[in-house]
Amino acid sequence: MATERTFAMVKPDGVRRGLVGTVVSRIEAKGYRIVGMRLMTIPREMAERHYGEHQGKPFFEPLVAFITSGPVVAMVLEGEDAIAGWRGMMGATNPKDAAAGTIRGDFATVIDENVAHGSDAPATAEREIGIFFGESGLID
Ligand code: CDP
Ligand code: MG
Repeated sequence: MATERTFAMVKPDGVRRGLVGTVVSRIEAKGYRIVGMRLMTIPREMAERHYGEHQGKPFFEPLVAFITSGPVVAMVLEGEDAIAGWRGMMGATNPKDAAAGTIRGDFATVIDENVAHGSDAPATAEREIGIFFGESGLID
């Protein structure tokens, strides 16, 4: 049991489809505090850093092209067990496997456009928050 911070994002498909309000509403209803939030189009270099663990995989180039294809909403969430909790709210990476009631289960059909991102572990959360909010002074 511990208060954690995690990095969350509404991906370009979610923004294009008008799902920002729905996703933010679920986060607020759950009870996580949004301590940072910015709308931005991710520069390519930043996208490559964010998804660095996937460099060399066949989906890396399409993933970087997609994540830089339009604005995203990047957030820092804070709350009890927020890292695993937000992953649970998003559901499985592949929407085909994501349970109904999860964001990917309810709002996506294909893995390459799955609406939301969330850090997968404490070290990842720290790294990703640093990439998106590092020197910004934008975290409450
Ligand atoms: O986003 P998550 O941490 O659940 O999954 P990941 O394994 O870290 O992959 C990052 C993103 O790459 C996923 O959310 C998918 O959008 C995309 N991806 C893909 O397009 N094709 C795959 N075979 C695996 C991942
Ligand atoms: Mg991941």
